[in-house]
Amino acid sequence: MELTPDRAAAEAVVDLDAVAANARLFRARTRAQVMAVVKADGFGHGAVAVARTALDAGATWLGVTSLTEALELRDAGLRAPVLSWLNPLGADFSSAAERDVDLAVPSLEHLALVAPGTRVHLHLDTGLARDGAEPEVWPVLCAEARRAERAGRIRVVGVMGHLACADDPDDPANAAGVRAFDHGVAVARRHGLRPALRHLAATAATLNDPGTHYDLVRIGAGLVGIDPSRRTPLKTALTLTAPVVAVRRVAAGTPVGYGHTWRAPVDTHLALLPLGYGDGVPRGVEAEVQINGKRCPIVGRISMDQLVVDVRDEHTRAGDIAVIFGPGEGGEPTVADWAGWAGTIEHEIVTGLGRRVVRR
Ligand SMILES: Cc1ncc(COP(=O)(O)O)c(C=O)c1O
Repeated sequence: MELTPDRAAAEAVVDLDAVAANARLFRARTRAQVMAVVKADGFGHGAVAVARTALDAGATWLGVTSLTEALELRDAGLRAPVLSWLNPLGADFSSAAERDVDLAVPSLEHLALVAPGTRVHLHLDTGLARDGAEPEVWPVLCAEARRAERAGRIRVVGVMGHLACADDPDDPANAAGVRAFDHGVAVARRHGLRPALRHLAATAATLNDPGTHYDLVRIGAGLVGIDPSRRTPLKTALTLTAPVVAVRRVAAGTPVGYGHTWRAPVDTHLALLPLGYGDGVPRGVEAEVQINGKRCPIVGRISMDQLVVDVRDEHTRAGDIAVIFGPGEGGEPTVADWAGWAGTIEHEIVTGLGRRVVRR
């Protein structure tokens, strides 16, 4: 991707060609339909742009958590089927039917609130003790859903589950999750339901276990280049840059930043970047950025709005561009590097970028 960086602000450049390539890879890996999961603003990459790109590349469904996110996709003119799977009881459920949004139903309370005409995916907890109906509740939920279906109030088109440990394909919890899902589908069928869309797998399971694909796979991280199981190289879609605001020469011993946690060991040059933890840069990291092709350490405490880089030589100028992370092809740090430095996962880095970072 050709990069012509913004010289006025920190900027997140989204490579939609990379998203398209990733979507095509998933398309080619499965006979199931592909749902592009674009929750949390498309994992920080822009929900509408990622959704459009993935649909053009062969995805047929869109998935989000909240109804609000689903309606944003509708407002943007996207017509593909959309599933929303996490809504509090106070959500505006009537809007799902009005705006043609499918709803996941994890409980009897949710089922009672779903508006007439809604297409429903019953959600079974297959091992996270998080969202989805508990196995004890499942038969009753299926029975009640079938009753609502016979009354012409709803249509049960899907059954969904989610795997807790798919990032480790060897974890026995995966097979247990598949068994729980198969059992849940069998129970649903025994109650007279005919869910045409069974869906369990997200990115990692889709890449590693075709036995989890069923009728539809839900791909979020993979679209933006993250394989949680770290086995399949995907295309990184996000590059974060920031222009150097100022450069100063400091003498050996000069303390830098709040708390004076770092002192220049030798005479050096420091570059100031307009980016801090308020923009999603993790505060407690020892990390590097790349300026003019060279890796340079961040020094001193990262502030809310700014950070300081030890560029060492006198060649860096105000206006030069620092690459915070990118695909790594030019030697710059990657999102995976940052996740490692911060002791977290790549998802948290890419979804954490703040509103001041300009998206392009
Ligand atoms: C229920 C559900 N399905 C699918 C996904 C997408 O997962 P991934 O980003 O690993 O593709 C998520 C995201 O966490 C999820 O919560």
